[in-house]
Amino acid sequence: MLKTHTCGELRAEHAGQTVTMAGWVHRRRDHGGLIFVDLRDRWGLTQIVANPTTAPEAHRVLDQARNEYVVRVTGTVRPRPERMVNPNLDTGAIEVDAAEVAILNPAKTPPFYINEEAPVEESLRLKYRYLDLRRERMRNNLVLRHRVVKFIRDYLSERGFIEVETPILFKTTPEGARDYLVPSRVHPGHFYALPQSPQQLKQLLMVAGVERYFQIARCFRDEDQRGDRQPEFTQLDMEMSFVEREDVMNLVEGLFTALVQHIGTKRIMTKPWPRIKYAEAMERFGDDKFDMRFGMELADVSDIVAGTEYKVFSEAVAAGGKVKGIRVPGCATYSRKQLDELAEYVRGFGAKGLAWAAIGDSETRSSFGKFLSEVTMKAIVERLDGQAGDLLLFVADRLEIINACLSRLRVELAERLKLRDDDALAFCWVIDFPLFQWNEAEKRWDPSHHLFTSPLPEDVPLVDTDPGKARGAQYDLVCNNYEVGGGSIRIHRRELQEKIFDLIGLAPEVARERFGHMLEAFEYGTPPHGGIAPGIDRLTMVLAGEPNIREVIAFPKSQQAADLMAGAPSPAESNQLKELHIQIVDS
Ligand code: AMO
Ligand code: AMP
Repeated sequence: MLKTHTCGELRAEHAGQTVTMAGWVHRRRDHGGLIFVDLRDRWGLTQIVANPTTAPEAHRVLDQARNEYVVRVTGTVRPRPERMVNPNLDTGAIEVDAAEVAILNPAKTPPFYINEEAPVEESLRLKYRYLDLRRERMRNNLVLRHRVVKFIRDYLSERGFIEVETPILFKTTPEGARDYLVPSRVHPGHFYALPQSPQQLKQLLMVAGVERYFQIARCFRDEDQRGDRQPEFTQLDMEMSFVEREDVMNLVEGLFTALVQHIGTKRIMTKPWPRIKYAEAMERFGDDKFDMRFGMELADVSDIVAGTEYKVFSEAVAAGGKVKGIRVPGCATYSRKQLDELAEYVRGFGAKGLAWAAIGDSETRSSFGKFLSEVTMKAIVERLDGQAGDLLLFVADRLEIINACLSRLRVELAERLKLRDDDALAFCWVIDFPLFQWNEAEKRWDPSHHLFTSPLPEDVPLVDTDPGKARGAQYDLVCNNYEVGGGSIRIHRRELQEKIFDLIGLAPEVARERFGHMLEAFEYGTPPHGGIAPGIDRLTMVLAGEPNIREVIAFPKSQQAADLMAGAPSPAESNQLKELHIQIVDS
């Protein structure tokens, strides 16, 4: 080793020892004579001092070193003078008196500061990711992610799970996104599909008798990017045989509870984790992923305002829509301008406007009160549990629009009013999803989760009689407004699987071509089974308190699904294309 100690290691008790350290020049200060350098490696910072009188050569070399030079220093550990002790630094009690310094590699001036947390344009960070990752925040995120994955591996291994790798070059495994295709050289005109998840393979591992499987699995989905999405991402993919949904949910609750405690950055505020039915989640939050760290839940006043003089409300209800509102605590004093701005915000999600009521100590001002009786107004305020000082906000429209607007407005206002505890995690299970959603454009049923999710046992008959009413044995894990994971109990009988393929409009020959191996496997003694796949990136993002998934991925893709550092995707050589039987045509 070129070093005897790391830069995070030395303490007062090391005083007097001769050490050799190597790392990067984090900061350099020339105090007219003495040169001070904070030397950095992955473990921390150590102050190096070069004295021109006692070690002229070491001083001369260090004088040439600039930020981010890689240097090696041999010297003696000594306690810092009392007033120079830095309590904010692990190694703040000591410094190393340099006797010998070597520059192992110089560095150009980096395109952004590595030694301070200044905002840097993200494309620049991604282009020089190897420098960005030197920064403390990113280094901490890398370490955090490692700890998350290591803990998960240990926890599951101790409970009889084994990790099995599944192929990346495979066949389409639909999870609702586009596939990434890989052309085959050996089979002209044929393609592998990168798995959107290992869904089929983990089920086949259950047929194989593995019983308890997990994998830290890479998944590939060609879909529009968002702050919590990447084209390739990592799941904790799990599957278990002979389980019911409660077994899977309890296992994950145990795992994540222990994990959060182990990581120590956050606390879980929901104990035990609530299980909320999909329909109830939509009613209360307007979305199937939501933040339970604060209130402001949606309240329905349609029955109260139906048939009233206020046309905005009554006509919406008469047309089959709804009127729903939220209670914003303590915001009754919002100005006209602030209210207009909120109305503008919800217009962005399709609302035609935003009605409001501000509850004062003696009277309630509102945008609609003059059209309603006092009794009606009182009933509305009561329905929302409005108190003096509160602002009530309402949208009248089709339910989809109301949900799109109020679910976001709720989160937006919580952010502005600082109603969310940054240290808290509100985990929650969403269950009893509809098994199918009607696809009006294509006049067929779409699976709300994926093709392999079983109906709830008691709803199996509904698949024949009233598919829209059948509930799936699906469970989604929600935390702080993110969908952190999704899973289900699977179909394990061929007839039912074929029936589902049929309902979603897969012709039998297409179903056989795509999923024949699954159907066939189901005929060889398939155990009842189920599983789940929490997203590791999203989970780590939440644990790190980062607002964006890219911050917890070492080499993420940009919003445009590009690697800005290496420049991928990039054109291929013409002879490569020829071998792959591919011709590029301008579109
Ligand atoms: P699902 O499609 O719900 O289920 O995905 C599971 C979890 O994976 C994460 N995730 C993503 N993370 C980052 N970027 C993306 N583009 C992305 N897409 C999904 C989310 C999500 O909750 N095979 C099933 C699981 C199962 O049934 O066992 C599946 O993949 O956290
Ligand atoms: P307008 O009829 O557009 O002049 O709007 C009158 C008031 O009603 C304004 O405060 C609007 O923001 C509000 N408003 C209009 N349409 C709706 C709606 N669909 N839901 C809630 N408030 C609305």
